[in-house]
Amino acid sequence: MASQRGNWGSRTGFILAAAGSAVGLGNIWRFPYITGENGGGLFVMIYLACVALVGLPIMMAEIFIGRTAQNSPVGAIRSMSRPRSPWMGLGWLSVVAAFVILSFYSVVAGWSMHYVWLSVTNSFTGLSPEQIGDVFGSLYRNAGLNLFWHVVFMVLTIGIVIAGVKRGIEFWSRILLPALFVLLLVLLVYAMTTDGFAAGFKFVFGFHAEKFHPARSTLAALGQAFFSLSLGMGALITYGSYMRRDEDVVSTSIIVCGLDTAVALLAALILFPILFTVGLDPDQSVGLAFVSLPIAFSQMPAGALLGPAFFILLTFAALTSAISLLEVATAYFIDERGWSRVKATLTTGGCILVLGIPSALSGGAGFFGERFKEMTAPVFGQNNGKTWFDVLDSFSSNWMLPLGGLGIAAFVAWRVGNDAREQGFKTGTTLGALYWGWVWLLRYLVPIAVVLVMLNALGVFDTDG
Ligand code: TRP
Repeated sequence: MASQRGNWGSRTGFILAAAGSAVGLGNIWRFPYITGENGGGLFVMIYLACVALVGLPIMMAEIFIGRTAQNSPVGAIRSMSRPRSPWMGLGWLSVVAAFVILSFYSVVAGWSMHYVWLSVTNSFTGLSPEQIGDVFGSLYRNAGLNLFWHVVFMVLTIGIVIAGVKRGIEFWSRILLPALFVLLLVLLVYAMTTDGFAAGFKFVFGFHAEKFHPARSTLAALGQAFFSLSLGMGALITYGSYMRRDEDVVSTSIIVCGLDTAVALLAALILFPILFTVGLDPDQSVGLAFVSLPIAFSQMPAGALLGPAFFILLTFAALTSAISLLEVATAYFIDERGWSRVKATLTTGGCILVLGIPSALSGGAGFFGERFKEMTAPVFGQNNGKTWFDVLDSFSSNWMLPLGGLGIAAFVAWRVGNDAREQGFKTGTTLGALYWGWVWLLRYLVPIAVVLVMLNALGVFDTDG
């Protein structure tokens, strides 16, 4: 069984694949825009606390489950509890979340591909910052372009997963992740020379709470931590299942969390100074990265080269994340239903492609845009002009993933026996002394924090609207 399912080539291979899953649009697109919407500083601090105290222990729990069971989420949870146990709901949630998240993720990845095209064809040269902002606006409203790139991106994702992930992801992550890092550092150096750097730095790290809404913003910070670290839906259970049983879960998780957080902070420290330099508001919603970066490239001496390079890397970062989402859905049909990889990938990928259509059309002011807004209104209450895309984005990150993570934490903390858990944690690591700290976080802090944040967001404590 294990030999058929395949393994990573090495521990580094796993780290790169897991980091490839974690580092993606969540870091460069989503983190800065959510930070902007929630007013900066205080939000970032809460985000960092969520990563360290909630995200990291859950990451260890997911990889531990996968590595122990050597199976994808549904089967893994079955083999570590019993058939038909209610815990298996966690496995099902994983499969559903994979469909939902990838359906809108692919649309944003499509924007990134469109920006590769725009920057290769030099479309930004000679435009003013406002005009560059309008380029995003017109892409966002263009149903045909969104659909086109969504389909292209899904076909690429399907193409890689069909071929079997191991060679594909490990190989590409090894080259692309370091390249992305180098390019981000180059951009950081540029951002540091801009007039807005001090203001941008203060926005990201300063303690100020003007636009911070206690209920909404803490939920957003928690949701962002889950989204960015690829947690709460079994992606890392699945990846952990391709890991050898004697490998180190603890330090591997620390490295992946650290890399992911570093990329998110770098992205924020690049994007906000640029926005401030040209006098734009940090509250740019989903367009933030797609406005800020092209402005920078249009003004930098080497922008004509760096622009295409950056969006190509962003597309690849999105691809290594998208693969992990599709792999969760695909692995279910392979492991549980005995489907061939080709059949499983084509079926799940095809469904996600269709499911993404409303997201691709969400920005359209025409027929579908309004139609989907109306459709979601009864379900989500008065959704203040939110589109189908916005609703999937915030609902999956802020509710599905933290609930999934809560379940995974509870499963490992309360259902898995202490001997297996302790041995699993301590295998292969020099950090075994952290064992009880980990269990304590999973048992108490994680559930209490997640539940409090959710109740607060539901208005139970009635702090704000
Ligand atoms: N973490 C990825 C990003 O930041 C997105 C992603 C990949 C993801 N796999 C996931 C999010 C699993 C949630 C769950 O772009």
